[in-house]
Amino acid sequence: MRQCTEEAYAKINLTLDILGLRPDGYHKMDMVMQSVSLSDTLCISLEEEPGVRFRSTRGDLPSDRRNLAVDAAYRFLEARGLPQQGVSIVLEKRIPVCAGTAGGSSDAAAVLRGLNRLTGEALSQEALMDLGALVGSDVPYCVMGGTARARGRGELLEKLSPVPSSFFVLCKPSFSVSTPELFRRFDTQTVTERPNTEAMIKALEAGDLQRVASQLWNVFEEVLPAREQMVVKGIRDRLTHLGAIGASMSGTGPTVFGLFDREDLARAAAAKLGEDFPEVFLTKAV
Ligand code: C5P
Repeated sequence: MRQCTEEAYAKINLTLDILGLRPDGYHKMDMVMQSVSLSDTLCISLEEEPGVRFRSTRGDLPSDRRNLAVDAAYRFLEARGLPQQGVSIVLEKRIPVCAGTAGGSSDAAAVLRGLNRLTGEALSQEALMDLGALVGSDVPYCVMGGTARARGRGELLEKLSPVPSSFFVLCKPSFSVSTPELFRRFDTQTVTERPNTEAMIKALEAGDLQRVASQLWNVFEEVLPAREQMVVKGIRDRLTHLGAIGASMSGTGPTVFGLFDREDLARAAAAKLGEDFPEVFLTKAV
C-alpha cells in the first residue's frame, strides 16, 4: 500500500479547567474532550523523493513544519528511522482554522495514523500518542478520539463513557484568539466559575444527557476580552433559545457549541445561526 485516506475529526471540550501553571511554562489541564463528525480528509502517500510535501484545499496554510501535519510526518519518519522516505499529504479542509476545535492537531494525528498504516503498523497507539505529544498538546487525544479526560499538558488520557445519542451545533464567530495570550490572561485574572469535572464524568457514566448538558463549562470564556466574551455569550444564549439543552465554548475558542437532544431543533438552529455566521456545522459525537 502506497496511499491511504484518513479522516481527522474535530474535537470539542465538554469541560475545560486549568489547575495551575507548571514549572515548564505549560498549564496543568483537566478537560473532558469529545470528537465530533465534522472532519478534514487527508490523502497520505509514500513517494520516492525524500521530504514532506503538503497541499490543501485552503491556500493559506503553511506547507513547512509550522503546519502540525507536516511536523507530524517528519517526526514519524525520524522515529521510524526512515529519513529518505518521501511523503505527500493532500488535505481537504473543513474544520475551521484557529477555532478551538483542534483542526491542526487532528490533521497531525491523522498523518501519524496514516503513515503508521502505510509502513506496516510498527508503532502502537501509545507510541503514536507519545510522538503526537511532541507535535502539540492536543495531538495525543486526537490520535485516540472519542470521549476522554485529558490531564497533564493534555497528554494524560483516560477513556470515558460515550455521550448519549445527541447533536452538537458548532458556530465559529469571525474573530480568532491567540492560545498563549489566552493562557496569559488566565494567569493574571481570577475566574469565578469552574467546571465540575467529576460531576461531568458521573453524568456520562449514568448516560444522563440532561446532566451532561448542565455540566458544560470552559474557564477560558471568562478571561476572553470583553467584546469577544459578549459575542461568545451571545451565541450561547441564542443556541439555548433555539432549543439547545446546554452550550459552551470549545478549547481556546472562539467556536461555541450547543448540545441538542432533538435533531430537528439542531438542524433548525444550525440554519438560523448560518444566516449570521459563515461557519456553522451540525455534528454528532463520534
Ligand atoms: O502544546 P501546544 O503547542 O499546542 O501549545 C500551544 C501553546 O499553548 C503553548 O506554547 C503554551 O503557551 C500554551 N499551553 C499551555 N499549557 C498547556 C497547553 C498549551 O500553556 N497545557
